Amino acid sequence: MSSQHCVSLACVQKAQAAISGLVHLTPILTNSTLDKWAERKLFFKCEVLQKTGSFKIRGALNALSDLSKRRESGEEVRAVVTHSSGNHGQALAMAARMQGIPCYVVVPRTAPQCKKAAILEYGAHVVECEPTDQSRVETASRIVQETQGILIHSNQDALVIAGQGTIGLEILQQQVPDVEAVVVPVGGGGMLAGIAVAIKAQRPQVKIYAAEPENADDCYRSKQAGHLIPNASPPVTVADAVKTSIGEQTWPIIRDLVDDVFTVSEEEIKRATRLTWERVKLVIEPTAGLGVAVVLSSRFRDLPGSLRNVCVVLCGGNVDLDALDWLHGGQVTK
Ligand SMILES: Cc1ncc(COP(=O)(O)O)c(C=O)c1O
Repeated sequence: MSSQHCVSLACVQKAQAAISGLVHLTPILTNSTLDKWAERKLFFKCEVLQKTGSFKIRGALNALSDLSKRRESGEEVRAVVTHSSGNHGQALAMAARMQGIPCYVVVPRTAPQCKKAAILEYGAHVVECEPTDQSRVETASRIVQETQGILIHSNQDALVIAGQGTIGLEILQQQVPDVEAVVVPVGGGGMLAGIAVAIKAQRPQVKIYAAEPENADDCYRSKQAGHLIPNASPPVTVADAVKTSIGEQTWPIIRDLVDDVFTVSEEEIKRATRLTWERVKLVIEPTAGLGVAVVLSSRFRDLPGSLRNVCVVLCGGNVDLDALDWLHGGQVTK
């Protein structure tokens, strides 16, 4: 492990022991139609079927199980706090309920009602803030003070990164035959960094590729420049879970262990998401469509050298079904 990396293979292995039995060992599926279009063999790691509908429960549970151990050894842990209206908010809420720790999730008041409802259903408190980054951060730190709680960051916390890395361990343990590359969507980079650490330490020849929207390409630009360049303004993309930029903890790992970053257009993301619904019969969210879009892109198909077996992480399936006009209200017209 590089001294600049906040997570090592041992941390990911420890996370796997901590969360085993609490998360699903998600299946790896194949699809011959998509293989044909991608011109290679694809293996889909189905985190869309994970508890809470995304991989985020892995990192949240690892962070919470650590806190619960600290509590057993006498430390006072009053609450956990985060700011995320998305999958991390739901995952932390569920993990906190499993460990019996109160949880507060700061959510922009404009977030879809279904997201707030899901967080409440998992037993957490929803605290509304204004829909700006500044308000999210300020509100979360006020709640941390008021509750004397602990902030669990969705992608820069080392325990969260290690938890997400357990996906990488499973890909190797599930014997994806001679996997030669793994394609991972990137937002803050917690999942990408965790998987890269887990896989590169054991099989350095396996390529780790990041998948990113053209409209939120901070990871691509950072890799090109060799230093961290966050998105300048809030990105507009259908892949709403990856609007966040990579950060100080995930950047050194991404810089050293990720082989390349592939960006795709909004049209490519939408087409790949739809294809996965239609052909693989999995209701993935557009952020998971990113990885599929990458392996179908001409740039990826034209990669030099033979790359036969590629694993794509289908990272989540929390789709806002109210956004589908025909489904809304349950009416189907002939
Ligand atoms: C479904 C899904 N995929 C990918 C990501 C990106 O993960 P990270 O921020 O660890 O890069 C997220 C983050 O919220 C997510 O919810």
